[in-house]
Amino acid sequence: MRRHGLQTLKTATDFPVDVWISSVRRLSTCSAVLVTRFGGPEVLEYRTGVGLPDVGPNEVLIRTRAVSVNPLDLRMRGGYGKSLFKPLLPIVLGRDVSGEVSAVGNAVRHLQIGEEVFGALHPTAIRGTYSDYAILAEEQLIRKPASLSHVDAAAIPFAALTAWRALRSTARIQKGQKLLIIGGGGSVGLAAIYLAKAVGCYVAVTCGQRSTKNVKEAGAEQAIDYTSEDIREQLKDRFDAVLDTIGMPETESLGTNVLKRGGHYLTLQGEIVSMADKYGLVAGGAAAAAKLVQKQMQYRQSHGIEYWWSVMRTDSEALEEICRLASEGRLKVPVERTFSLADAAEAHREREGKKTVGKVVLEVE
Ligand SMILES: NC(=O)c1ccc[n+]([C@@H]2O[C@H](COP(=O)([O-])OP(=O)(O)OC[C@H]3O[C@@H](n4cnc5c(N)ncnc54)[C@H](OP(=O)(O)O)[C@@H]3O)[C@@H](O)[C@H]2O)c1
Repeated sequence: MRRHGLQTLKTATDFPVDVWISSVRRLSTCSAVLVTRFGGPEVLEYRTGVGLPDVGPNEVLIRTRAVSVNPLDLRMRGGYGKSLFKPLLPIVLGRDVSGEVSAVGNAVRHLQIGEEVFGALHPTAIRGTYSDYAILAEEQLIRKPASLSHVDAAAIPFAALTAWRALRSTARIQKGQKLLIIGGGGSVGLAAIYLAKAVGCYVAVTCGQRSTKNVKEAGAEQAIDYTSEDIREQLKDRFDAVLDTIGMPETESLGTNVLKRGGHYLTLQGEIVSMADKYGLVAGGAAAAAKLVQKQMQYRQSHGIEYWWSVMRTDSEALEEICRLASEGRLKVPVERTFSLADAAEAHREREGKKTVGKVVLEVE
């Protein structure tokens, strides 16, 4: 079968390695959603005949079946990260992917052509997944359990790896500890609840009324409506860790004041990118590092707590555990609506209007 100049091979055993590699070389174009300039959803352009880079030795070419829309995609489309991305326009958005292995580089060891996989790119990856063919490193992918559809699988990895980085890698949550998630109703918040429950933590969250059912289903013991005036009084406990997905001054104040001494406050709204965008990569990066250290010292002194800007990182061991939990039905990120890849602009409008509670996913025919 030929698509866009690419010969799609069937199974690893059907073809010798040199044939896979020559197929990678023949592949030249794909369909993709491009950002050629920063702005609203209208800047998203669906195009065919878009050039596809060569697949590197450790990389895997994925025939994309579903990609999810993350808040980062909307922010990048609007210019977030422009200090890095502007010189590289046009860029392809998208971090998550689920699909089939279409070709592999010659150093790829564990994945074979035809296998169904899912995974996510790092936040700073230049070429994203809003495309019918995506390229990821082997370590960023894992075999998709048959029990998960491509749509459901695509909703999971970026959110769950973000939650993992904060809770498991940085705060190192332990069985019996108490965790507060500010913004527990979003994708990262829900993934964080499932991960914390799998460890054996007590979980309280703040969320909107529309998310109460999802956070309870994920296992949170306490769900507090964030529009209520007495959130602090409703939180009877002191917490070992607070994951703040919102990162506003009032949520930072709430989170840092309900921690035990020695506890961890982790915000997903660090300022490295915004400061780099404002002052340039070098000066902004240095200013952000100085601000972080200053805040860390200040909170250690005033509250006796650890303060972090937490950023998603790809992590193959974490992805393995996330996949295991998802296959057992113990980690879910609900999908609210799907759109076709060509309707990415419509999908962004839907997310921007905050009309949906769960994820929006783009399906690729
Ligand atoms: N640092 C990183 O590496 C990283 C990685 C991933 C995401 N993020 C950021 O983390 C944030 C969350 O991402 P996401 O994928 O979970 O987004 P999402 O699925 O769109 O969820 C956002 C949720 O925030 C909730 N919310 C809004 N204001 C709130 C408040 N004052 N208190 C409590 N909850 C509030 C809403 O909950 P209700 O529906 O319950 O009202 C909404 O569902 C985004 O800003 C994203 O850019 C950062």
